[in-house]
Amino acid sequence: MADLIIENLTMRFAGVVALDEVSFSVEKGEIFSLIGPNGSGKTTLFNCINGFNKPQGGKIYFNGENLLDKRPHNIIDSGISRTFQNVQNIPFMTVLDNILLGAHSRIDVKATVQRWLSQDQREIEEAMVLDIMDFLGIANYEQKYMLGQPFGIQKLAEIARALVSKPKLILLDEPAAGMNDQETREIANIIRDIREDLGITVLLVEHDMNLVMSISDRICVLDSGEIITLGEPEEVKTHPKVIEIYLGETADA
Ligand SMILES: Nc1ncnc2c1ncn2[C@@H]1O[C@H](COP(=O)(O)OP(=O)(O)OP(=O)(O)O)[C@@H](O)[C@H]1O
Ligand SMILES: [Mg+2]
Repeated sequence: MADLIIENLTMRFAGVVALDEVSFSVEKGEIFSLIGPNGSGKTTLFNCINGFNKPQGGKIYFNGENLLDKRPHNIIDSGISRTFQNVQNIPFMTVLDNILLGAHSRIDVKATVQRWLSQDQREIEEAMVLDIMDFLGIANYEQKYMLGQPFGIQKLAEIARALVSKPKLILLDEPAAGMNDQETREIANIIRDIREDLGITVLLVEHDMNLVMSISDRICVLDSGEIITLGEPEEVKTHPKVIEIYLGETADA
């Protein structure tokens, strides 16, 4: 059953066509990756799915619901959360509090104050965050300030924050960017566990081809806002354009 359906999605910025009639669907429980050169439209696609960008054309459905009618916080409530290409942590809050921010899909001052006054609610939410930190192997960073934490921890906190809203679909925008080989292998395991243990569908944007090829069920390749090819890793990696883009070779080299 398709979880996410993208139909003829078109997004333009002034003269730039960032997405040009893009159509594909993601099955429930899939690890589906989007790859393509810089500026090919990957993040724009995420921004359309989570409601930050309003496309000029096309449709997006999640579990049968039309997402284009919804605002970003309603899209989180529908079960989709995301991480950002550039980490979005707040340095002078603890790692735990940074992650706790993901528990609330909108900034509502009154509700926030009520929550802080309600010790019980805070304890329930903290326990949930600690479970997620444990799942990601970062539980011992709980009370540390985000400022100065290793980049790998900051990236995992970003994933943790996206998991706190208990999504059905998670959008990961370059989770391995800036990570070393060991950290990248850990990210690969975490993404598999997110699907296997938490049952969450994964839509992944990533430039690390080893990571993408090893964990994806299917891969969609974008170039200048258009789909060049879509298929299983074995098919995609032999596509001439993919070889050209990622190995810097011409198709017939
Ligand atoms: N808010 C915006 N205003 C104007 N142009 C934009 C905006 N967002 C994206 N673009 C343009 O849309 C195109 C696609 O950008 P996008 O960020 O989606 O690429 P990407 O595939 O995520 O690239 P990267 O791999 O570098 O992250 C680019 O030409 C970019 O400059
Ligand atoms: Mg991007």
